[in-house]
Amino acid sequence: MEKAEHNFKETGHKVPVWDVATRLFHWTLVTLIVLAFVTNNFADKIGFNWHKINGYAILALVFFRLMWGIWGSSTSRFINFVKPFAAIRYFLEMFSGKGKHYLGHNPAGAMMIVALLLVVAAQAISGLFTADDISMMLFAGPFASDVSESTAEWMSYFHRIGPNLIIALVCIHVLSNIAYAVLKRDGMITAMVTGCKKSGNYSDAQSARLSHQGLAFTCFVFSAAVVFGIVYLWGDAPFL
Ligand code: HEM
Ligand code: HEM
Repeated sequence: MEKAEHNFKETGHKVPVWDVATRLFHWTLVTLIVLAFVTNNFADKIGFNWHKINGYAILALVFFRLMWGIWGSSTSRFINFVKPFAAIRYFLEMFSGKGKHYLGHNPAGAMMIVALLLVVAAQAISGLFTADDISMMLFAGPFASDVSESTAEWMSYFHRIGPNLIIALVCIHVLSNIAYAVLKRDGMITAMVTGCKKSGNYSDAQSARLSHQGLAFTCFVFSAAVVFGIVYLWGDAPFL
């Protein structure tokens, strides 16, 4: 069994890996994370509201991904790839030269994805309670005035160090994806664009079972409505 996986063979035809919703989620998240830095840097020219709106959109995306992790296609479901013990085994096997090939997230990549989602979510949630100056609140999240001063200070502190964590994780994520694609000749980066990989004897599954994309659209509309609805109804100056 191990020998067969070690001697991984691809065949010519393509199999589905990532559905449209997961790919759209990924590249939209990448764009919005970049925009979070841009809107903050150019806030004096374009106004700070763009940073806030962009942050709400990130929050809605992450909320969507949580739902898609339950009802999404087989390769997007958390239950199929969040396996901490398998990640340790995978690392050990990789260093002994026996790393297996995976159709979807490999167990180590999966841990990085959980970390990325958690840190991005924490960054966006802390933004809701962040204030540049607790007494003046010139630039403030919509719920900064609803919490105690010490909570707002703590959230603001996290919101200032969080971006460094995001940059560090993204660098590891991108570099390991490039290394994996080059060394293992695994078309995983292309698959995040096209949705397909060449078929082969993968360890997790031979092909993804795709969920209905109409369901993804419904989940996305729901998550956007919840996030924007909450800040609009209960937030303090949410779009200013
Ligand atoms: C993942 C999403 C987000 C990212 C990556 C992000 C990133 C940043 C960065 C890099 C800064 C500058 C920190 C510094 O001064 O060193 C900042 C400041 C700020 N962000 Fe965000 N942000 C996000 C979401 C949000 C959200 C949702 C809100 C609120 C609606 C928000 C509100 C603020 C505020 C009020 C500041 C000013 C804090 C200050 O001047 O000290 N952010 N953000
Ligand atoms: C701000 C930058 C980025 C963030 C926050 C990010 C985040 C993520 C997340 C959350 C996933 C999981 C997808 C899912 O299951 O829904 C993922 C997967 C993936 N990303 Fe990124 N990504 C970033 C940049 C990139 C870039 C630049 C590339 C291309 C070089 C890339 C390549 C991939 C690939 C190939 C996967 C699937 C394989 C895997 O890592 O398990 N990402 N990324």
